[in-house]
Amino acid sequence: MAHFDENAKPFSHKWLNERLAVDTLKRVLSTEYWIPKNINFLWAMGMVLAATFGMLLISGIFLLMYYQPNTQLAFDSVNYTIMSEVGYGWLWRHIHGVGASVVFLIIYIHMFTGIYYGSYKRGRELIWLSGMLLFVAFSAEAFSGYMLPWGQMSYWAGMVITNLFSGGSLHATGLVEWIRGDYVPSQAFLNRFFMLHVLLIPLAIIGLIVFHFGTLRIPHVNNQDGEEFDFDAEAEKWKAGQKKESKVIPFNPVFLSKDVFVMGVYFILFFFLVFYNFEFAMDPVNFDPANPLKTPTHIYPEWYFLWSYEILRPFSTNIGLIAFAFAQVIFFALPFLDRSPNVAPASRRGPFKYWFWILLVDMLILTFMGKLPPVKPWGTIGYVAAVIFIILWIALPFITKSEKKL
Ligand code: HEM
Repeated sequence: MAHFDENAKPFSHKWLNERLAVDTLKRVLSTEYWIPKNINFLWAMGMVLAATFGMLLISGIFLLMYYQPNTQLAFDSVNYTIMSEVGYGWLWRHIHGVGASVVFLIIYIHMFTGIYYGSYKRGRELIWLSGMLLFVAFSAEAFSGYMLPWGQMSYWAGMVITNLFSGGSLHATGLVEWIRGDYVPSQAFLNRFFMLHVLLIPLAIIGLIVFHFGTLRIPHVNNQDGEEFDFDAEAEKWKAGQKKESKVIPFNPVFLSKDVFVMGVYFILFFFLVFYNFEFAMDPVNFDPANPLKTPTHIYPEWYFLWSYEILRPFSTNIGLIAFAFAQVIFFALPFLDRSPNVAPASRRGPFKYWFWILLVDMLILTFMGKLPPVKPWGTIGYVAAVIFIILWIALPFITKSEKKL
């Protein structure tokens, strides 16, 4: 039995420490977790993501108090009850809608930072793979959430995306009905997507975030030059007072204060969007209630899915499905397709620097084309961009294999 001080005041530092080992946590974060000095604000994006996920959870809990997962009531419970009847319901909805959109912007910045600096290589493969699982989980979370207001876009996007599971000419039609729980999206469909959105996927995300943090523990985060050094030796220098010479800083309080600063700036922008520019996160078509008898003239997903949607669209059904599946999984393979030994910023690497920028611009073009109707010239531009995307990934092992060691 541990020793307890009978005289310690309840909830005082000593009282808490005897029950929760708060000093141990502080010691670990201050003396056992070291961060390279040589990193920029982009390395704060991980914490910004964690904070945005927190905002989504909190706002989601408030929305859940009034939302009705029923095809007859869902639309009004969101657009009428929550938006006009419940005090500050509009605020929680704006936070949730803006958060869902912005979280993808930050995820893409976080991913492309990792790609640019080669943070998925040499011991960091699991960080990348767990990150990709988070990307998939967030995509599923966003899609299932989009079904819930039961507006026109919810209904028809649900129809189009679940149709993908019919597998082109494989005619795997039974699978689509199994996923929907009916022939068309209806009550069973709404119920199961509601369960996925509020329970199963958030639980998976929380587990994956813990796993992602765990994968960072041993390899530590990368740095702007891809420099490898002995973290223990550098930490000893810091502890011995040679703070200038040391290449690392302790997570607490030095790095944490930088993270908190970036988060502060981010939240100013975030709440600016929530209060003054929330429309960008809400599709006007979804302000019409779901109508199974009226297909919208132009069905498109939210902006963060447009690039992969545009890889699906320009091809015939079968090839489109294969191309779409390719786009969904190929990022997982990045640590194994990049054959170069160099962990360094793209700017210092051979043809990879062009590969990186072409990929980024190509995905932006796919995103813009995905929003436009598939007519000339947009359809052709989208087609070319989709082919370039596939060629880039096939070429990656070849162009990185020949890269000279830096
Ligand atoms: C909501 C989801 C995510 C959270 C909360 C999260 C959190 C974090 C945190 C806190 C870090 C350490 C600091 C930093 O570099 O920012 C980190 C690093 C990293 N994350 Fe994520 N992450 C998420 C999603 C992703 C995704 C989608 C990917 C890419 C597939 C990814 C790949 C990485 C990589 C490669 C690193 C290492 C960076 C380095 O060593 O320099 N993460 N993540």
